[in-house]
Amino acid sequence: MRRVSAALVVVALGAVPALAADPARDAIVAAYAAQAKQQDAGFSGFSAARGEALYRLRHTVNPEIASCSTCHTDDPTKPGRHAKTGRVIEPVAVSANPKRFVEADKVEERFMRDCKSIFGRVCTATEKGDYLTFLINR
Ligand code: HEC
Repeated sequence: MRRVSAALVVVALGAVPALAADPARDAIVAAYAAQAKQQDAGFSGFSAARGEALYRLRHTVNPEIASCSTCHTDDPTKPGRHAKTGRVIEPVAVSANPKRFVEADKVEERFMRDCKSIFGRVCTATEKGDYLTFLINR
């Protein structure tokens, strides 16, 4: 009897999808963590607060697109708008858009492109992980 009820509890828990959890996204974050450790011996985990600062920080490399929030909006749970083309960009906060950050190639390609246009350089693995951690928890 006891055994049966324990099994039922397990089944019930398994049936409830964890909102933000996604194995593909977890794997992307884990890969950046491994890279960050290689790049920096003092790496001690990603920070949503640092990710948010990165998201909002204004740069002067390209005045038309001064920050990530220029296109992805101040409130990442809202749809953004491409500063140059005017095209709508789906929200980047995972709570508002569960399909975010699940394709490693797309994520890496966009980091490459967007970091270069806004910061004038590529982002480090720590910056990428911080950015994802901010938006996964938003
Ligand atoms: C000029 C407008 C623009 C700016 C500024 C911008 N992005 Fe993007 N970003 C896009 C577009 C367009 C996409 C692709 C469309 C989509 O994913 O909805 C995208 C997608 C992404 C993705 C992939 C999302 C996914 O679901 O896989 C990442 C990561 C990203 N951007 C990071 C950044 C970072 C970091 C910054 C600031 C350094 C930034 N972006 C600034 C336009 C921009």
